[in-house]
Parts: sequence; structure tokens; C-alpha cells
Amino acid sequence: MSSVEEIMSMLRDVRHPGKGDKDIVELGMVEDVTVEGNKITVTLGFGQGRDPLAEYLVGSTRAVIYRNTPAGTEIEVKAVSARPKEEKPKKKNVNDLTLDEVNNVRHIIGIASGKGGVGKSTVAVNLAVALARLGYKVGLADADVYGPSVPIMTATEGNVPDAVEENGSEVIMPIEKYGVKWMSIGYFASPGQALIWRGPMACNALKQMILQVRWGVLDYLLIDMPPGTGDIHISLVGDIPMEGALIVTTPQAVALADVEKGVDMFRNEKINRKVFGLVENMSWFTPAELPDHKYFIFGEGGGAIMAAHFGIPLIGRIPLVQGIRQSGDDGEPVALSSGPDGLAFLELARNLVNQVEK
Ligand SMILES: Nc1ncnc2c1ncn2[C@@H]1O[C@H](COP(=O)(O)OP(=O)(O)O)[C@@H](O)[C@H]1O
Ligand SMILES: [Mg+2]
Repeated sequence: MSSVEEIMSMLRDVRHPGKGDKDIVELGMVEDVTVEGNKITVTLGFGQGRDPLAEYLVGSTRAVIYRNTPAGTEIEVKAVSARPKEEKPKKKNVNDLTLDEVNNVRHIIGIASGKGGVGKSTVAVNLAVALARLGYKVGLADADVYGPSVPIMTATEGNVPDAVEENGSEVIMPIEKYGVKWMSIGYFASPGQALIWRGPMACNALKQMILQVRWGVLDYLLIDMPPGTGDIHISLVGDIPMEGALIVTTPQAVALADVEKGVDMFRNEKINRKVFGLVENMSWFTPAELPDHKYFIFGEGGGAIMAAHFGIPLIGRIPLVQGIRQSGDDGEPVALSSGPDGLAFLELARNLVNQVEK
């Protein structure tokens, strides 16, 4: 079993993104470490104020010990605050959170894909901006624990969302830019750090990130789901009152099986949600110097075939162009522009609204 010193040195890997990325040992937050048999107990002190990252730090502490100790080690991480009991704001258990308490959101839509790298986040971010351009009130929650990309795609990295007290409980304020309210697991972790979340811990962190946010009145809340179709997805779709989904795919025939998994995640009888549409990304390649040319490098019409196969409308076809990749890297979504690529996302947004309002 690890010694107290060894555990302290593990805890140096837990960094506080809100405090210049200093580690919790350096910040003097580790109040106690005990090792008894195969049980490790760590107590973290949070001083007087409320720390919006408290749950995140508790989760990271647990994860870092979990990774560095043998299977079967019992881990308890306690958070204590110096605030007198009666003053303490009621911190709701994450399982008691419901969206309607703090919010008024008309449509919650998951953006999903059977696998990563198909452009799910690119579509989610640009769709959010396009819906906002059409006059809707929009929020986007980036629930991709494995690779949150909203901060980079909107050039909001380094922003730390405020936490405020409302009616005796704590809520997190989204980041506003381009007319959209953004929230990302990436705002609470330095790059790479979010990767340590797995299983139930990831589910709780995600639930909190979506349900404890002060979204205000929204027409659309989009959820950029993690890639794939595993347990996190099932519990996310079950826990968040999602009305339905959009599935993003590339045109290749081999993507059919991935799309099927994505569709089943929402349509299976236990979940029973709608699938509003299929979006075919990278439909064709158009080089900047030959704007009238379309090269169907992944094959032509794959999205339409898949859509027909599953009985889902094909509501968008997005070209593979350098500008879309570049604007993602620059944090200025192409949907802000009125060029053909921007218009492709505006059309997608209009088609989605037609499906949802139908
Ligand atoms: N239509 C497109 N044209 C050019 N590049 C794209 C397009 N869609 C996505 N990309 C690029 O492909 C990479 C993966 O896209 P991303 O949206 O992060 O995928 P996912 O969220 O499915 O993993 C990113 O670098 C992105 O800029
Ligand atoms: Mg992504």
C-alpha cells in the first residue's frame, strides 16, 4: 500500500485550473491524508469562499489515486470548507438536479456520432452559431470528456466560468460569445487533464456541467456528445431530458454500422427519443482555387443512402474545405460568414428547426 508521502506526490498531479494551474499540495489544500489497510482518505480544504471547481478537484484527486494504486484500493476524498455550517449555500446532490429549476429551455438536442473524427464538434459549434444567426437563443454544452473542443473552436480557452448563488444553490454561468452560451468540460481542466474522467465520475461531472448551468431562456440547447456509443452516452441520454438527436456521419459505406449504433442509442425502446436528422459531413472536397469543383473523395450519396435506410431525413451536407478546418482552429466558426460554407450551416440550421417544430 502506498505511503502518505507517495500519495502526496501523486496529489502534485492535481492542478487547480482557476489558480494558475498550481497543484493542490502547493496551494496548501491537502488538509489530511490517512492510509488504513487498503483504504486511503484524503481531505481537501476549500477555505472560506465557494470554489466552482471543488467537485472537479475532488474527482481529479480520486482519479489520480485510482490510477496509481492497485485495484481494490478504497478511496475516499472529502471536501471541507471553513465556512460556518448555517451560512453554507445548499449544495444540491447532483442526482437531485433538474434543468427546469434554473432554466427555461425549449429543445435539448444531442449531437452524436458513432465514432470520433467525423466532424461532430465542428457541426455542433457551427450549428449553434447558425441557429443564433437565425435569431434563436442557443446554448451548447460540450460533453466530450475525451476531447473537449469548444474552447478552441470558439477561441474561449482559458475562460473560467463564474459560479453564483441563486435561490440558495450554486449555479455556473456559461461563457457568451458569437451570440451563443457555451459550456465545456474543457473550461474546468487544463488540456489532457479531462482525459482522466471515466465511467460514473464522467457521468456525474457531465450532468453537473449541463444541469447546474444558468442557461436562462433558450430555444435550443445542443449537447456535443462524446464520440461513440458506450455507457456514458446511455446514461447521459437517460439523465438529461434530451428531446432527440442529430447524427453526424461521413459518406463512406463503412460508416453505416457506426450510424446504426448512434441511431439505436436514441431509438431503442428504453430511451425512445427522436432522431431529427442525419448530417453528412465531408460530403465532397472543394479546393479553394477551384471553388466550382466537387470531388467526392469518400463516395457520392452515402449520406442519402444511410438516411433512407434508417428512415431519417438527411438535413445537411457539409463540404470538406480547408476554410472549415482553419476556422475551427482559429476559433472563428465558419457559420459566422456568408460564404458558401457558412450558408451550408445556415441551411442545416433551418432544416433542423423545420424538423423539430414540425
Ligand atoms: N467539413 C470539414 N472540412 C474541413 N475540415 C473539417 C470538416 N469537418 C471537420 N473538420 C476537421 O476535422 C477535424 C475533426 O473534426 P471534429 O469536429 O473535431 O470531429 P469530432 O468532434 O467528430 O471528433 C478537425 O480538425 C476539424 O477542423
Ligand atoms: Mg469532438
